[in-house]
Amino acid sequence: MIEYRNLRVALLGAGSVGAQVVSLLLQHGDELAQRSGAGLELVGVAVRDIDAPRTAEIPQHLLTTDAESLILGADIVIELIGGLEPARQYILQALNSGADVITANKALLATHGPELFDAAEQVGAQLYYEAAVAAAIPIIRPLRDSLAGDRIKRIMGIVNGTTNFILDRMDTAGDTLESALAVATDLGYAEADPTADIEGFDAAQKAAILASLAFHTTVPIDRVHREGITAVTIEQVDAARKAGYVVKLLAIAERLTDRETGIDGVSARVYPALVPRSHPLAAVHGAKNAVFIEAEAAGDLMFYGAGAGGIETASAVLGDLVSAARRHVIGGPGVAESTDANLTILPISSVTTRYQISLGVVDQPGVLASIATLFSEHNVSIETVEQTVAEQAESSGGGSAPGATLVIGTHAASEADLSATVQALGDSPVVTSVTSVLRVEGS
Ligand code: NDP
Ligand code: HSE
Repeated sequence: MIEYRNLRVALLGAGSVGAQVVSLLLQHGDELAQRSGAGLELVGVAVRDIDAPRTAEIPQHLLTTDAESLILGADIVIELIGGLEPARQYILQALNSGADVITANKALLATHGPELFDAAEQVGAQLYYEAAVAAAIPIIRPLRDSLAGDRIKRIMGIVNGTTNFILDRMDTAGDTLESALAVATDLGYAEADPTADIEGFDAAQKAAILASLAFHTTVPIDRVHREGITAVTIEQVDAARKAGYVVKLLAIAERLTDRETGIDGVSARVYPALVPRSHPLAAVHGAKNAVFIEAEAAGDLMFYGAGAGGIETASAVLGDLVSAARRHVIGGPGVAESTDANLTILPISSVTTRYQISLGVVDQPGVLASIATLFSEHNVSIETVEQTVAEQAESSGGGSAPGATLVIGTHAASEADLSATVQALGDSPVVTSVTSVLRVEGS
């Protein structure tokens, strides 16, 4: 029988994810030891309330409310508490004592990542975070290791399961946003307070992490442009379907050059966008996540799977545990985060995308020409126009001017030019309403 060196593992948090980590670690400890080359001894589990019910059995003697003492003397600390504090302090304490740390805490990484990575580097420890983006889907290690020899051009991710579930219900079952959110809450996808999901905060944190990794540049969370899904209407989703698109909340990280200034940099942004139904991301249904990567040499890659869930997330945490244990066995310092490219972070105004704009207009001679002029005056090139004459106006037999709906697709235009165009459309006497403005991505 092989005698393994024993590594002391401390777990902070035994909620949805932490309890499953305990369960899998206790069930498969021998296998994980073989893969790691080290015994993995769970020395304790810190929680707030020792008597709280757990979703998996945890031996009572392992539970403690004294996280600080537990961290002391651990070789590897797994942080699954969530939130900024005390998670940040505990991770710093663990790293400063030389332990490797594993976390799934995207909010903390997006806010205090550089401080934590610096602390790890100072002592030669390593911070692992595979579960922080898209939970079970391996995406951190592929970006960090497998694609380290390539150049990433663009990442488009569906990285929030709750919003994907809601938008998918709107598309496939005809639910309104409110009723789809109610279903998501009933099924346990959405939190009691769903703000972080539907307002795009959760996706923005993940976009910051992905952009930092992909472009070797620290991208702080406050530099990620964020729009949630609360303004998406069932009418927009229906119109998208008829036009061959689906609405998805996308986290985008992209290398681009600002047209005006010529500055080469990075854009990180989150917004609902129209995705062609032929794009692989359009096939991501329900609460599933996917990350689509465009790399210079590797071409297009897509990573798909469960972006949430206790046991699914625990899988990624345990993968990190095996990596951390192997590193301990081999010895040597941890691999520092690569931020040496230090690219400029470009604002949303540097981005160019295609748009689809829906307008209510009066239906009379010269209207189309005057609208086309407004677009060209603002440097926005029209790609497609579709007009539908409103039935009510057609049959009204005179009186007020008859109405029509125009759906205008543009070629790639800058955010600034597009906003100016939308402003001018709103002021135009022939436009009765600007009913929808959505970006088109992935075509
Ligand atoms: P939960 O809220 O279910 O669990 C949190 C755990 O932390 C609880 O056991 C709680 O103790 C414990 N805890 C909270 N505060 C303290 C404290 N001050 N000291 C000690 N223990 C504390 O969270 P999740 O398991 O859902 O999430 C954990 C992390 O994983 C988060 O960072 C989250 O963003 C991330 N994540 C979660 C996913 C998911 O699907 N759930 C997916 C991907 C990432 P007690 O039980 O006693 O209250
Ligand atoms: N609330 C997140 C989601 C959980 O809906 O995807 C995983 O970060």
